[in-house]
Order: sequence, then structure tokens, then C-alpha cells
Amino acid sequence: MKSLSLFAFFCIISVAAASTAYPSVPGLDSGDCGLTGDEILLVPPRREVYDAGRIFDISHKYTPELPVWESKEGLANFLWLAVSMKNGSRANGSAMQIGAHTGTHVDAPGHFYDNYFDAGFDVDSLDLRLLNGLTLLVDVPRDANITAEVMKSLNIPKGVNRVLFRTLNTDRRLMFKKEFDTSYVGFMEDGAKWLVENTDIKLVGVDYLSAAAYVNSVEFHLVFLESREIILVEGLKLDGVPAGLYSLNCLPLRLVGSEASPIRCILIG
Ligand SMILES: *[C@@H]1O[C@H](CO)[C@@H](O)[C@H](O)[C@H]1NC(C)=O
Ligand SMILES: *[C@@H]1O[C@H](CO)[C@@H](O)[C@H](O)[C@H]1NC(C)=O
Ligand SMILES: *[C@@H]1O[C@H](CO)[C@@H](O)[C@H](O)[C@H]1NC(C)=O
Repeated sequence: MKSLSLFAFFCIISVAAASTAYPSVPGLDSGDCGLTGDEILLVPPRREVYDAGRIFDISHKYTPELPVWESKEGLANFLWLAVSMKNGSRANGSAMQIGAHTGTHVDAPGHFYDNYFDAGFDVDSLDLRLLNGLTLLVDVPRDANITAEVMKSLNIPKGVNRVLFRTLNTDRRLMFKKEFDTSYVGFMEDGAKWLVENTDIKLVGVDYLSAAAYVNSVEFHLVFLESREIILVEGLKLDGVPAGLYSLNCLPLRLVGSEASPIRCILIG
């Protein structure tokens, strides 16, 4: 057993080094380190970046450690094998239970406006043209929440419709920490107002669980969602991505009647 795991260790190293070969099945390439018979080592590919920066995956993985709003426990046991081959089923079938605002997710106007919720402004009503298109990734000065002054200093040109705001949250790796942290950086009310009144930004992306700073999270959300024109994408994974212009592709689930949905977002350079 010991020699097998040592072998597996070298195998993983060499698979990771052979970055060009995808799709590839370990064991089929010559020089690859597949074992024989039923000992073949299967190593699934896991990537954050494809083709040296052509595609960046900016959604977080769903794991038990993913932080959850106001929780110390994280997502914990959200996923289980409802039917399992080990128990005689023909296939493995997982089931899960998560809040709709878990991990990288999108808010619909019904999140803080009950009349919008009742009128059906759910995630299925969000405009895919806004969730997909040219996007600016900017670095926010690390010493403050996003106030009007900070917004001014970013000099985001008119005509820019989508902006992802990278903050201190990314440096602090808050989305990788299980315990919810109220000291995350977000928009202050004057910053949100400034954005609404002085820019053409209709998609706001942030790097922790809420676009609005914790102190007055509800009030600050109201500023964004009132017009029903602004889409908030929260909990993005923005580490390791150079600031600049990208094509953003974000697709929420079609959860009819829900004011939020997990969302898969990628940037294409
Ligand atoms: C099926 O589920 C078992 C656990 O019961 C797991 O060990 C196994 O890897 C799964 N098989 C596949 C093909 O995913
Ligand atoms: C298999 O079934 C047993 C008995 O119902 C249960 O205790 C066990 O957790 C199940 N295992 C898996 C992998 O589903
Ligand atoms: C941002 O605001 C939070 C309160 O919501 C506070 O705890 C935190 O220190 C502020 N961050 C910065 C960088 O000023």
C-alpha cells in the first residue's frame, strides 16, 4: 500500500506537469503512469485557468468549507449519495441541499423588495445579455469600503456596463475561510448611490457573499436593486486574474420563484 501511494504521488506530479495534454486519460499516453489491471490511477483534471489565461474560472467550488452568510460552520454536509453503487444501486446519484445564495451566486430584485418578489422578478427573469458580455475587472484600493470617493477614484468610463470589483476580500481569501467574516469589504450606501447615478454599470460583481458592506447590508442592497436594472453577482473568485477587459459569461439556474441562484461565471481573455 505504501509503495502504491508513493507511486500515486509521482504520478500526480507528472500529470500536473503535462499541462498540454487535455483531454487525456491517465494510463493511455506513453510515458504516463497508469497502473495495471484494476489498479489504474484515475486523476480527474481540476483547473482554475485554461490555456495560460484564455479562460479563467471565477466561480468557487462547492465544498463543505465554503462560507455561508452569518454561519461559523460553512456549508458543511450539503451533498450526499442518495443512491450508491456500493450499496447495490446501478449508478451513483447524489443529492444536495443549499441556500440559493450559497457560494458564487446572483441576486434578483425580489431579494429585498417583496413587491418585486410577488410580481415574479426572480432569477429566471434576469437578462442574459447583461450576464454575458464585455466586462472590466478593477482593483479597488485596499484601505476602505467602496464609498462614493472610492468609486470616483476608479475612473470607470461611461459606457462600461459590467464591472467586477476586486477588493481586500480576495487578498484575505475570505471565500476560502469557513467562518463567515463580517469585516468583509463591500459597497457603502454612498458608493452604491454614486454608481447608480454616475455610471452605466448594470452588472456589479464582488468577491465576497454580499455586494453591500455588512454594517447596513439591507439598506445598501436597496439602492442597487430598486431600479431592477442592476444585477448583483456575489462571491466571485477573482484571485490570480490580471485586471483588465474580458468577455464575461455567467449563467444562473432557472429557479422559477427564487430571488437568487448559484451561478457559474467564467472570464474569457
Ligand atoms: C460511486 O459511489 C461510491 C460510494 O458509494 C464511490 O466510492 C464511487 O467512486 C462512485 N463511483 C463512481 C463511478 O462515481
Ligand atoms: C449504504 O446503506 C447503509 C444502510 O442503509 C448505510 O448505513 C450506508 O451509509 C450506505 N452507504 C452509502 C455509501 O450510501
Ligand atoms: C469595511 O466595513 C466593515 C463593516 O461592514 C468593517 O468591518 C471593515 O473594517 C471595513 N473595511 C475597510 C478596509 O475599511
